[in-house]
Amino acid sequence: MSPTLRTRIACTVYPSPRAAALAVADELRVRLAGYPSLVLGLPTGNTPVPFYQELIRLHRASLLSLAQATSFNLDEYLGLAPGDPRSFRAWMQAQLFSQVDLPANRTHLPDPVEPAAAAEESRRYELLIREAGGVDWMLLGIGRNGHIGFNEPGSPRTSRTRLVELEAKTIADAAKTFGGEQHVPRRAITMGIGTILEARAIRVMAFGSAKAEIVQRALTGEPTELVPASLLAGHADVRFLLDTESARLLSQ
Ligand code: PGA
Repeated sequence: MSPTLRTRIACTVYPSPRAAALAVADELRVRLAGYPSLVLGLPTGNTPVPFYQELIRLHRASLLSLAQATSFNLDEYLGLAPGDPRSFRAWMQAQLFSQVDLPANRTHLPDPVEPAAAAEESRRYELLIREAGGVDWMLLGIGRNGHIGFNEPGSPRTSRTRLVELEAKTIADAAKTFGGEQHVPRRAITMGIGTILEARAIRVMAFGSAKAEIVQRALTGEPTELVPASLLAGHADVRFLLDTESARLLSQ
């Protein structure tokens, strides 16, 4: 682990994605031990995979229980059939929910409704988060374009859960899952930046050289809606967890 770098947002650099994932999983283990009914904000993507694997390992070793926890995922594609294997709900089910003791009725994602029903679904999701008492601990990845959740560049700092149009870069990154760009949904529901900023603690993981440039812009540039992750700079308890490759362009 390197010394803390001089950035606008706190960050720690680990020798590998796995080392970072173990550190963030351990933080969650300790938090859950002290407060079992934690409300979690969770991401999908390649980045959190080693983190979810470590949660499963800790659970199997009886070192971590999610039995009293609640989860809210960041986002979901619109217009997919319920149960579509390419939905984020199905992905979370396979990567985490089916392998830990988080009760099914306390795992939340926006429903992949048709776009016409998105405004109502967004209101329902915001209300659910509020009724749960807000998110205590939010984990994020970051897109190559700086998005958090599906808040693409230009998303307002005060935005709430809503329908969004996906950017070309985001669609390209999802093409493999959908068997070609033409099959990727163009729209999604995402928690807003304002919604994310209300979480009491925020951790952001970014790994690999493809993220180095956007990590540099997010952590060292002026906060701007053009780089949504840079807007996290105003939060009272936020930390980026990087590997040496994603931190390559940050200077000491
Ligand atoms: P990734 O996606 O983890 O697959 O790189 C991150 C994101 O788009 O938020």
